[in-house]
Amino acid sequence: PGGNGRPPCRIRIAPDRCPHSATPMPVVTVTRRMHFNAAHRVHNPALSDEENTRLFGKCNNPNWHGHNYILDVSVRGPVDDRTGYVLDLGALKKIVEERAVNLIDHKNFNLDVPFMRGVIPTSENIVVGIWRELEPAIRPGQLVKLVMWETPNNYVEYTGE
Ligand code: NI
Repeated sequence: PGGNGRPPCRIRIAPDRCPHSATPMPVVTVTRRMHFNAAHRVHNPALSDEENTRLFGKCNNPNWHGHNYILDVSVRGPVDDRTGYVLDLGALKKIVEERAVNLIDHKNFNLDVPFMRGVIPTSENIVVGIWRELEPAIRPGQLVKLVMWETPNNYVEYTGE
């Protein structure tokens, strides 16, 4: 403050910050990791059995199989002066549980999950389905990225495109 005709700012909510400062709010991305396990069969009924086996390998097993999935949910926003948080990660966890994890944990993606109905449950399609469930519920927070691990070696990322 000073030099702009205003008296010096006395309000100090966070160190070196005052509401009149021209310094933009710092923007930070925060991430909550979630776990779930679920069964699926990756199978396209429009293709022959041979083609399905060739394309999807073990994930085409007729009698299902499971994965232990890891899901990282990233939200970006300004750091709130009052709390020092972008958002309460406990509140984010609750949204992710209600909108996604509770619907898919210990479930079968082919049979049990409303937002996966009629969709081949590859990791790509699962992560897009989860995004569509979460994104409106997180607003006005900005969901910027989902990273989902299907195995320790394979993961997918989605940013809403
Ligand atoms: Ni699989």
